[in-house]
Amino acid sequence: MASGSVAEASPLAGRRILLGITGSIAAYKAAVLCRLLKTAGAEVRVVMTPLAKQFITPLTMATLSKNPILVEFFNPENGAWNSHVSLGEWADCYLIAPATANTLAKMATGIADNLLLTTYLSARCPVVVAPAMDLDMYAHAATQQNLRTLAERGVRIVEPAEGELASGLTGKGRMAEPDAITAFVGELLTEKKKTLCGKRLIVTAGATIESIDPVRFISNHSSGKMGYAIAGELAARGAAVTLVSGRTALATPPGVERVDVLSADEMYDAAVRAFDEADGAVMCAAVADYTPAEVSATKIKKGDGELFIRLRRTRDIAAELGARKGGRLLVGFALETHDEEAHAESKLERKKFDFIVLNSLRDAGAGFRGDTNKVTFIDRAGHEELPLLSKREVAARIADRIERFFRQ
Ligand code: PMT
Repeated sequence: MASGSVAEASPLAGRRILLGITGSIAAYKAAVLCRLLKTAGAEVRVVMTPLAKQFITPLTMATLSKNPILVEFFNPENGAWNSHVSLGEWADCYLIAPATANTLAKMATGIADNLLLTTYLSARCPVVVAPAMDLDMYAHAATQQNLRTLAERGVRIVEPAEGELASGLTGKGRMAEPDAITAFVGELLTEKKKTLCGKRLIVTAGATIESIDPVRFISNHSSGKMGYAIAGELAARGAAVTLVSGRTALATPPGVERVDVLSADEMYDAAVRAFDEADGAVMCAAVADYTPAEVSATKIKKGDGELFIRLRRTRDIAAELGARKGGRLLVGFALETHDEEAHAESKLERKKFDFIVLNSLRDAGAGFRGDTNKVTFIDRAGHEELPLLSKREVAARIADRIERFFRQ
């Protein structure tokens, strides 16, 4: 099995941002904004209104964006057509910052008298505006109505901040700071579609703890990271998620209901109970297969000879859910050290998984504790081997498969 390295990608890495600049004193901040977007890995093209050139030079923006600046419908030197349609198609996000009261009003009423505005009317990507103006202009009923109209049509607004304005007055109207705008666009582009709305899913995660006496226990190296990433991803896609969790140091992902357990028996009871109401389950926990047959009520004292602890089998949670599942979803994991695929295929059948996620401790960066995993999906149609990825990305790939299961 192969190994490699992986970096957690910035949400803006490789994304195409069309930056629109209008004629405001805040245009100077567009230079910093452009730089931040580029540093985050985005490709940036800039379109300016004719007036914006009075506030910041096209040369500055061309140098920072590493692309020619677009202002006119035609290039006056060679007559080439600057196509607003293809600009709108090119962009993953059209960010207009700063956006003046004048441009917002034209956007709201469909006026198309410059390239920035015609591009807005043709854009199919998300559009973000960062208003910048004097406090009275911002507070004016006309501007507020225009912003409401744009918001109703899906335009996202980065609220201006309060503070000192170019007019010398103090109030709300200052364009939001470039780092806040960059974060806003990053979040917008990573927003998940709520494709799992209405689904109730269980995720088991982390290690179980099997007590020997009040002091010692048998456990394993699971940190819970893989299972928590899956729970977070499913919740972000709109599922109601119950996370049945062994002991971990991790924070509960947003929107997830967490049930804490210690032993395999406790995890069995919690998972089986939650499964009654569920549309499916993802079994990511590293569950003890054996537990001490008797738990000493007091600390076992050391003696001279060897100590034997008799173990009994725990109940198999996944196999029990498999027996009850009917048409519901069941996803398993297989953590192997040898004969990986044969063992995983056997678990797929025995536990009635719809698909199983195989990870092998022979692969560098896979399995316990780290932030990466290298997995192979196995189902009855075949195998899909993935490269080394962050656990977040593996969770997203698992969620993609779960979406496909529910679409069938
Ligand atoms: O938590 P991390 O540090 O991020 O590590 C992630 C992980 C390595 C724990 C995870 O990727 C993983 O492989 N989890 C499954 C570990 C495991 O116990 O695999 P297994 O091959 O022994 O079990 C097969 C399947 O049956 C698993 O879905 C397991 O959850 C389930 N099982 C096993 C025993 C049992 N009594 N009940 C179960 O439900």
